[in-house]
Amino acid sequence: MPSSEPFAGRLSERLSHLGSGVFARNDQRKQAYSAAATARGLPSLLDLSLGSTDLQPPEQAIAAIQAQLGAPASAAYCLHGATGPFREAAAAWAQRRFGVAVDPEREVLLLVGSQEGTAHLPLAVLNPGDPALLCDPYYPSHLGGLHLASARPQFLRLSAANGFAPDFDQLSSSQWDALRLMVLGFPHNPTATTGQQAWVDEAAERAVRHGVVFAHDNPYVDLALEGEAPALLRSPHWRACGIEFFSFSKGWCLGGYRLAFAIGAEPLITALRQLKGVVDFNMSLALQAGAIAALEQAPHWPEQLRPIYRERRDRLARALEALGWPVRRASMALYLWLQLPAAATAAGLESEPFCAQLLQHTGICLTPGNGFGAAGEGYVRLALVHPTAQLEAGAARMGRWLAQL
Ligand SMILES: Cc1ncc(COP(=O)(O)O)c(C=O)c1O
Repeated sequence: MPSSEPFAGRLSERLSHLGSGVFARNDQRKQAYSAAATARGLPSLLDLSLGSTDLQPPEQAIAAIQAQLGAPASAAYCLHGATGPFREAAAAWAQRRFGVAVDPEREVLLLVGSQEGTAHLPLAVLNPGDPALLCDPYYPSHLGGLHLASARPQFLRLSAANGFAPDFDQLSSSQWDALRLMVLGFPHNPTATTGQQAWVDEAAERAVRHGVVFAHDNPYVDLALEGEAPALLRSPHWRACGIEFFSFSKGWCLGGYRLAFAIGAEPLITALRQLKGVVDFNMSLALQAGAIAALEQAPHWPEQLRPIYRERRDRLARALEALGWPVRRASMALYLWLQLPAAATAAGLESEPFCAQLLQHTGICLTPGNGFGAAGEGYVRLALVHPTAQLEAGAARMGRWLAQL
């Protein structure tokens, strides 16, 4: 007798580890809300759940893409060799930005977004069952990448009590010896913490000492609001242990174009390139032209985003605090990492039901902290991706609902 679920038992076990993902669950709820809003005349959705900015990319980047779109070469498959001009531009940027001489031929790799790179790297460096270290809370695709590689995740718990600094002594020396990969990223999403160069330097030292590959995910390197963002490329040990991921999504507002790159130790770049060779060809030369223009003609674009995010952060923090919702001042752009408001805790709501109810009653979508790991329970992430006036109006909507909880 055919099963009512004809593919039951025929999909990979790996998928059950990946789960449905917090962003996918939120997406379903947003669709349901929007349909109800249209039918019942409710306020329209205010989506503060994704780090997908309303701010615009530099004109030079878009003009360069447009200029190349019609060229036959832009429509052709692009093998690694043809990414040379992009890799040269990325190496020149690294020299200007960090004072590091990077070999564009052997130490730079174009990516389809940094998420693609960090998710594929474990397949290139781990064997099934290998232990790999993540922060908790983590960026979801970091864990997803470990599951794709059938690795064994271990967690370094970050806590507000010590400013979300990684305490590397949470692992014993023998646990460090057993590790094969460590994935960190400061500035850190979701805790909105810039972090310190000393943290990344210490991680790199440990990685060298214990023979661990260190992947540093750094899409927010130009978006620190307080202090200077750390970078693995500034650590003296980067060539001995690591690979660092940079993106055009945040600093140049090009998220939809899926442009990013890795710079790292030659064997790691070669391994990731080999792995990617099975999965994708590179981005079109037209998109690469946009990325080159961003680096060369608009290198300071991220800097003028910072005051905008700072103003949004400060104004929204004031509005939330006026509601009695305490805000820990974010030291990087794009997000607030908020403890659940007292009214939610008193009502016995955890982060995901809180976000679901908030959306249902106010049309405002936040990301539940549990989607970023066990340490994220009790928190929500709010993305500062709309103009200040909309954020303040959103705070007022949330305030009215919280008052009735
Ligand atoms: C830590 C981190 N890594 C990677 C990404 C994805 O970046 P990209 O658009 O380059 O794939 C994000 C996006 O929010 C992120 O926060």
